[in-house]
Amino acid sequence: MTQRTLRRFLTQTLSDNSDLVFLIEDIAAACRIIADRVRNAPFDGDLGTTKTENVQGELQKPLDLIANDVVERVCANSPRLAALVSEEVEEVTWLKPPQKGDFVLYFDPLDGSSNLDVNLSVGTIFSIMQITQDGQRDILRPGRNQICAGYAIYGPTTMLVFSLGQGVNGFSCHSTTGEFRLTHSNLRVPETTTEFAINASRQMFWDGAIQSYVADCVAGVSGPRGQYFNMRWTASMVAEVHRILMCGGVFLYPKDRENAAKGGRLRLMYEANPMAWIIQAAGGDATTGDTQILDVIPTEAHQRVPVILGSAQEVDTIRRYYRRQG
Ligand code: AHG
Ligand code: MN
Ligand code: MN
Repeated sequence: MTQRTLRRFLTQTLSDNSDLVFLIEDIAAACRIIADRVRNAPFDGDLGTTKTENVQGELQKPLDLIANDVVERVCANSPRLAALVSEEVEEVTWLKPPQKGDFVLYFDPLDGSSNLDVNLSVGTIFSIMQITQDGQRDILRPGRNQICAGYAIYGPTTMLVFSLGQGVNGFSCHSTTGEFRLTHSNLRVPETTTEFAINASRQMFWDGAIQSYVADCVAGVSGPRGQYFNMRWTASMVAEVHRILMCGGVFLYPKDRENAAKGGRLRLMYEANPMAWIIQAAGGDATTGDTQILDVIPTEAHQRVPVILGSAQEVDTIRRYYRRQG
């Protein structure tokens, strides 16, 4: 069976929106370049850390900056792209005329970048929203307004996974031809799971709901859940979400005592929103604990939120732990 190319898929699916096709193709082209830079980083001297910090106060890696520049450069001329919002750039980048569009691209150029020096999977996360063209620069819209969101994962195979709102499709990049082809169509997150992913080293900071949830999972067959649970943590949200899309599970980066003042750990506009959009389009669920992530009203471009997403029934179970806590 021949697998459809990304271009064929996009032109067939978005026959009435060629400007969005161009933008998604530009993102795919940028991701192909980033995959190459990640793969060749040890030869190019691009591993290690720079001395600069991003707006979140995190030390940037050379590849964080390279990936940011690649996305900016490749997508900047995309028709209808009005602005870029990047994890690595404090201010919104409004594109200068003649660019006069209504698409905004939010992105995390390299997610999981602490994994770069140990050669584990990293990725690029992106979200596209449409703003009004009346000069109102309202880039802070809830995630429900996304028109496309996805990620590239730079693993053994480079893959591009995205959703236009209904269904989630995965395209693998052939290492010789560079072509993205539809290899994983209509991905679905299994409704139930016995696998969770959380950074357990933060247990001392967890609130009662998360303490009870994890304690009940690890209690196994003799505990209240009556079954054994498995745990995973790769410190790369792209890798965790990809695993959940492939075989189910739940991912938690909850609000805790240490990160509460900042609102959580992960960023709403270019981490939580796009991943929530994909997971929900695949039949899963995504919450902060009390609010659907896609309903969170943003107040700033780099705002953080608690994130709990994955298999729908398990997310609902966690929601119940929060309700019980009150
Ligand atoms: P980034 O590399 O873009 O800063 O994102 C890292 C994020 C996310 O990918 C991951 O889930 C989480 O941070 C890892 O956090 P810990 O360092 O607490 O493991
Ligand atoms: Mn990230
Ligand atoms: Mn990043």
